[in-house]
Order: sequence, then structure tokens, then C-alpha cells
Amino acid sequence: MTLPNGPQTPRVLRMMKFVTRPLDYLEDYYQRYGDFIRIGKSATPLVYVNHPAAIEKIFTANAEQFRTGNAGGVLLFLLGNNSVFMVDGERHERQRKLLMPPFHGERLKTYNQLICEITKQVMSQVKIGQPFRVRALMQDITLRVILKAVFGLTEGERYEQLRHLLSAMMESIGSPLAATLMFFPSLRQDWGEWSPWGRFLRYKQQADEMIYAEIRERKQKNDFAGDDILTLLMSARDETGEPMSETELRDELVTLLIAGHETTASSLTWALYWTHYLPEVKDKLCFELANLGENPHLGEIAKLPYLTAVCNETLRIYPVTLTSGVRVLKKPLELGGYSFETGTVLFPCTYLVHQREDIYPEPKKFKPERFLQRQFSPYEFFPFGGGHRRCIGSAMATLEMKIALATILSDWQLKLPHHKAYKPVRRGLTLSPPAQLSLVAVNRLN
Ligand code: HEM
Repeated sequence: MTLPNGPQTPRVLRMMKFVTRPLDYLEDYYQRYGDFIRIGKSATPLVYVNHPAAIEKIFTANAEQFRTGNAGGVLLFLLGNNSVFMVDGERHERQRKLLMPPFHGERLKTYNQLICEITKQVMSQVKIGQPFRVRALMQDITLRVILKAVFGLTEGERYEQLRHLLSAMMESIGSPLAATLMFFPSLRQDWGEWSPWGRFLRYKQQADEMIYAEIRERKQKNDFAGDDILTLLMSARDETGEPMSETELRDELVTLLIAGHETTASSLTWALYWTHYLPEVKDKLCFELANLGENPHLGEIAKLPYLTAVCNETLRIYPVTLTSGVRVLKKPLELGGYSFETGTVLFPCTYLVHQREDIYPEPKKFKPERFLQRQFSPYEFFPFGGGHRRCIGSAMATLEMKIALATILSDWQLKLPHHKAYKPVRRGLTLSPPAQLSLVAVNRLN
């Protein structure tokens, strides 16, 4: 059976709503079309998949079933065509194998102390009584952490410049207005450094120059003793014994730098927002943390059940990416009784599944307890996607959320200056808390 047509709204109007009101866009269509939303009338439409059984079929299918897409070209332009995001088949498998170990198992534990120290360092800028913008500060934390993981850098001129450039580059395409560039390629015009696209291009070029300079310097020094990811990638050889080219190295590094801090900063900001918006959540969390006693082992913090539930609920209610990465069919596939042809573009829709009333009663309410009362399957709860493309940094991201949140709550008494319900806004291809979301320090506890 063929999936019936979805919305008939003209493309420009539809896209405008998708860019400016992404949650309404998805929810309105879900009300009308349910588990599968078909966009476009061609034989190979774009389809949002909103049912766990269909998501399971996608996430457990053989990798050969799909190829990746390039999200309107911006992702390809930003990350480059050698990025693990962009490649398929054996090459994709090989790159994942190379990149997984630094973000898992024993290696992950080495980041505990680093995350805690960087959180304290960044938070020390906060002044009692002066509101601060939460996302900017959380982004500072996550960017410093990923720079250390990727380059082994925590200080020096190049580190400072890269930190500034990456931040400025993402900021230049981060506002909801600039995000329009992502979805309307004709607006991507370089009208000088004052135009949004022109500014982005200049930052990107400068950041690339810095990264190439770091790669060349390492090569010259012939120094492969570090345990950072650049060292690991420079030591790797392909099946013919060749090392990665400078362009391949650059693409992989930029991918990790961007994917590894933007998303985590948004999630951490939401976690802080919810804990201060709902005092009972904060009280329970502080009680759990206090029970660990003075100077708890950081490894114990990461295992706390209520803290874990708060982080999961944060990622459920407003997932940073509305959907998992795109899956383009390389062979026909049947889902939910519908047959989809080669070329169909599938989006497992994280947001709509996370909002299903039958899985999450009262889905609009932030209730960490639901994660203590029930275990959700990886097809009901998938903020990090799934299957052969599941996020490489999921363990690192959750660790970062937990350690940073616990450190901030233990060291500071904060409050929201305005008890206001915030909704996500578009930030490039992701969703984020609004930039103006602020907290104010009432007291310093540690
Ligand atoms: C809260 C934070 C994060 C969220 C919500 C998130 C979410 C995601 C999602 C939804 C995907 C697509 C998965 C799919 O299509 O099935 C993905 C892929 C990816 N993520 Fe993350 N991510 C986060 C943090 C990180 C971090 C910290 C890193 C690196 C250190 C990272 C690196 C990657 C990479 C390299 C991929 C591409 C995987 C592939 O195509 O094989 N992410 N992420």
C-alpha cells in the first residue's frame, strides 16, 4: 500500500513554518496524519516516521539499506565530504570504529575530573545578583571540554583563537533568522562580512586555517605521544597502509568539535532551566547529591538514579535534534504496512515519538519520575538516534550533563529571574533554549 499524500501547503509556506515554528509544524501534521507524515507528492517523498515499531525496523535494518543525506547542503559545506556524518558503507564503518574508543569505556572516565574543573572555572565568572545568559556559559563549558578531548589543548594562543572562532562561527548561523539560510540555499550569498552568510564564511575559513596549522605543526614535530583524538587519527592507517590526508583530518576534527559541543550545551541549559523552574525537582536532586557526602567520587555522581532521570527527561521533552539523521532508501522497504521506494527520505522523528501520549502520559509535563517507574525501549526514547548511525558521543554527552549539573548545583544557589515557561527556538539545524534564558546567582555555596 502507498502512503497517502500529506500536506498540500505550498513549499515556501511549509518551509517558513518549519524554520520559524518547528514544534507546531510537526505537531499540527501529527494531529492530521499520525504515525507517518508524507511531505511531497513524488514517488520518493520525505517521510516523518513517528511510530516505535517502524523506528525499530529502521534502526535494526542492515546498514546497506540506507545512504545518508546532506541536509540541504549546509552540513556538507560545514563538515566536509570526509566527515563521518557524510560517508556511507565500509568507509563509514571504519571511521566509526576509529572514533568510538575515545568516547567510551575506561577512556570516558578520564573526562570526569576535566568536566568538573572546567565547569568550576567557567562558573567562577558568575557574579552574585547579576543575571547571566545560561546557554552562552554552558557552551563555553562544552567547547572547552571538546577542545581538550580533540586536540589535548586547554590553554595557549591557538586554543584561545579556536575557541573564539568556533563559537563565533556557530553564533553567526545560530539565530532563528540566520537559520533560514540553512533551508533556502538561494539566500546563501556572500554580501561581505556584515551579511550573515558572509560572516559565517569568514569565520569558517579562519577556523579551518587554525586547524590546518595545528595538524601541520604536529606533523612537523612528529609527536604522537598524546592521548587526544588528533593524535589517534594521525596514527591511523587505512587498508592500504596510507595515513589520513590533511583534508580528511580537518573534516573529522570539525565534525567532532561542532557535534560535540553545540548539542550538549543546549541540553545542559535545559537541565538547568527545568531544575530551577520546578523547585521540587531541584530539591530532590540536591537531596540525592547531598547524600553522597563531602567530596564525592565523580564516578558515583554519574550513576545517581534521580540525576540520570532528570537528564533523560530533559532529552525527552525537548530533544536537541527533532529527528535522527536522514536515512535515504537504497532498496525498497515496508514500514507500518506501507511500501516505500528506493530514494524515499526517512526521518525517524524523535520529537513526535517523545511526545506520544500512549508512551509518555502527560507528555508536556517535565516528570523525571517516569524514567524511574519504567524502562523505555531504544525505539521509544532515542535522543541520540539509533542503529548504525547512533551518536558516537552519547556517553560523553550524558556524562557531561551529569557532572556539570551536579557541580553547578553543589557550588551555587541560583534562581530564574523570571519564572517564565520557555520553549525551544531554532538554532541552525538543531533546537535550543532561547539565548536570553537567564539565571541569577543568589549565593555561592562552595
Ligand atoms: C546532548 C548531546 C548530543 C545529542 C542530543 C546528539 C544527538 C545526535 C543524533 C540525533 C545523531 C544522529 C544519529 C542517527 O542518525 O541515528 C548524532 C550523531 C553523531 N553525533 Fe551526537 N549528539 C550529542 C553529542 C555528541 C557529542 C558530545 C559528540 C562527539 C564527541 C557527538 C558526535 C556525533 C557524531 C560523530 C555523529 C555521527 C554518527 C554517524 O553518522 O555515524 N555527538 N548525534
